Amino acid sequence: MKIVMIRQFGGPEGLVVEDRPRLIPGEGDVSIAVHAAGVNRPDVLQRLGHYPPPAGAPDWPGLEVAGTVDAVGSAVTNVRVGDRVMALLSGGGYAEQALAPAGSVLPVPANLSMVEAAAIPETFFTVWHNVIERGRLMAGETLLVHGGASGIGTVAIQLARARGARVLATAGTAEKCRRLLELGADGAVNYREEDFVEAVMGATGGAGADVILDMVGGDYLERNMRCVAEDGRIVQIAHLRGKTAQLDINRLMVRRITVTGSTLRARDASVKAAIADAIRAHVLPLVEVGQMRPIIDVVFPLEQAAEAHRAMDEDHFGKVVLVTAAGQAG
Ligand SMILES: NC(=O)c1ccc[n+]([C@@H]2O[C@H](COP(=O)([O-])OP(=O)(O)OC[C@H]3O[C@@H](n4cnc5c(N)ncnc54)[C@H](OP(=O)(O)O)[C@@H]3O)[C@@H](O)[C@H]2O)c1
Repeated sequence: MKIVMIRQFGGPEGLVVEDRPRLIPGEGDVSIAVHAAGVNRPDVLQRLGHYPPPAGAPDWPGLEVAGTVDAVGSAVTNVRVGDRVMALLSGGGYAEQALAPAGSVLPVPANLSMVEAAAIPETFFTVWHNVIERGRLMAGETLLVHGGASGIGTVAIQLARARGARVLATAGTAEKCRRLLELGADGAVNYREEDFVEAVMGATGGAGADVILDMVGGDYLERNMRCVAEDGRIVQIAHLRGKTAQLDINRLMVRRITVTGSTLRARDASVKAAIADAIRAHVLPLVEVGQMRPIIDVVFPLEQAAEAHRAMDEDHFGKVVLVTAAGQAG
């Protein structure tokens, strides 16, 4: 089978197509004939040499795929050969075949294409776990999403709105802000031109946001602390602007603020299976009725993974997806 390997760390040109033997599923694995694979920022970090795959994962990139099941291990009972599935992986999605633990596999809703389905697992698992489980966002509360135009941000906006929360989001251009409002955000802040702290305090009558989903880090922590509500929750999922920051401990105590965060890839399979169950119960029904949908920016053939990574490095809105020969054939 064809895979896309990182031949050398650095620019997108380090991504090259190689031939590898097919993988043999273990007893709890589902083997998937990949039709499409989502591209995520962590893949870019892996390409740069900053995000090694966890022990036991394939060393080629790719955290999510959609395709048809072509074999299952002896202990797998939740899917059958021929099923249309999407799966969260800890690596190895940029390939014509991928193995996923059965607990990380979900059915593809009938109203979605394989390309759309491949854009779901990484962002939906991350957003569910961080906004709903860690951030405990409730209906009627306000969520502030930084990086609203990202794959993650576009899902967080839709999920929070669908669950009855109010959403404010930041992005780096006026055009992206316009699209965030179109997607359902109640307010959008161009962080290059406006101070998001003032904007959030203004939009919430001085109360602040109840939950902040942050991928920026660095000096954003101090600014998030100034626009989070009493009893508010700040959830870190990345630190694009720096992994260390100053924290006003007194403000944290007086306003009873929670600062938390998580990273999905290295979590145990049982944790991912529990998140998958929650998504099946609470999120896929929203997709099935068209209340949520993955936002696809651009699609490339698997062989053009380097181009796909260039698209990640340039302005994009939502997700970049790779499609295999099987996916192109339908
Ligand atoms: N913790 C986890 O489990 C987990 C899982 C998946 C992803 N992540 C992280 O979540 C983030 C989004 O992932 P993705 O794949 O959706 O990436 P993506 O589509 O490439 O989005 C990155 C976003 O970051 C924003 N951004 C970059 N630098 C910024 C800055 N200095 N200030 C404000 N915003 C900035 C960009 O906003 P503009 O384009 O508007 O400037 C862009 O929307 C990544 O950092 C990724 O590593 C974490």
